[in-house]
Amino acid sequence: MDIKNQVAIVTGGASGLGADTVRALAAKGAKVAVLDLNLELAKTIAEEVGGLAVQVDVADSDSVEAALATVKAELGTARIVMNVAGIGIGRKITNKKGPHPLDSFLKVVNVNLTGTFDVCRLASTEMIALDPLNEDGERGVFVNVASIFGYDGPVGNTAYAASKAGVIGMTLPMARDLAPYGIRVMTICPGVFDTPLAKGETGQDGFDRLIATVPFPKRGGNPKDFAKLACHIVENTMMNGECIRIDGAMRMGLMI
Ligand SMILES: NC(=O)c1ccc[n+]([C@@H]2O[C@H](COP(=O)([O-])OP(=O)(O)OC[C@H]3O[C@@H](n4cnc5c(N)ncnc54)[C@H](O)[C@@H]3O)[C@@H](O)[C@H]2O)c1
Repeated sequence: MDIKNQVAIVTGGASGLGADTVRALAAKGAKVAVLDLNLELAKTIAEEVGGLAVQVDVADSDSVEAALATVKAELGTARIVMNVAGIGIGRKITNKKGPHPLDSFLKVVNVNLTGTFDVCRLASTEMIALDPLNEDGERGVFVNVASIFGYDGPVGNTAYAASKAGVIGMTLPMARDLAPYGIRVMTICPGVFDTPLAKGETGQDGFDRLIATVPFPKRGGNPKDFAKLACHIVENTMMNGECIRIDGAMRMGLMI
């Protein structure tokens, strides 16, 4: 799909991987809605690119519905939806203090997995009513964000890894559900990227130790690397129902 003039939604678009994806989509001529819990930051990014900032909590379905309605009223129905919003938590399944709290497990799953599912189910329902765009009959595309932790999660990451494995697992069946409408579903699995979330989890020391394990290139991912892939997925109609690692051939060991 040609990105120019299309309406695009980026959840988690106020920071990190999402913010650079917003910039890249806008540079290619999309009308971008920055959907984020953090309205102030969302406004800053949206102003920078002439986009729309909308507050949303992806873990709250009423909030998702309201945010999608705002985008539709202000910009039109989105053909490009990127589910980038996510949170992390570090906790072992049990330790001397007791079991992993159930509420923090549910919180991570609600934001990362249920939130992604909810945006997809509601946005695709709007998308199927659109006219097809090109000779392939394409109507739209979803780009969801999992993590390499969805394949090889280190110690203390059961909640995060489970939530991201869920995003990986729903990629193919969702692509199959939406194929008759010309709507694609792809998932990106980042390795270690230089963002507030990654550094918040590991600190600078932990981040540097992780990067030392990346075969090539020996550095943290730049959010621009991610944004390039996200845009390429939109532009390449043959890409569908697949999860792509972007990690410099990194494989997580036991520990972060
Ligand atoms: N940075 C990495 O190394 C890395 C690696 C693998 C996967 N990821 C995934 O990439 C995505 C983006 O991560 P990032 O590193 O850019 O993080 P980030 O913290 O910089 O950005 C995440 C954004 O999501 C928003 N957000 C959080 N909870 C939300 C909610 N309930 N509703 C709406 N918005 C919400 C935050 O306000 C923030 O703007 C996440 O899904 C993360 O799990 C990141």
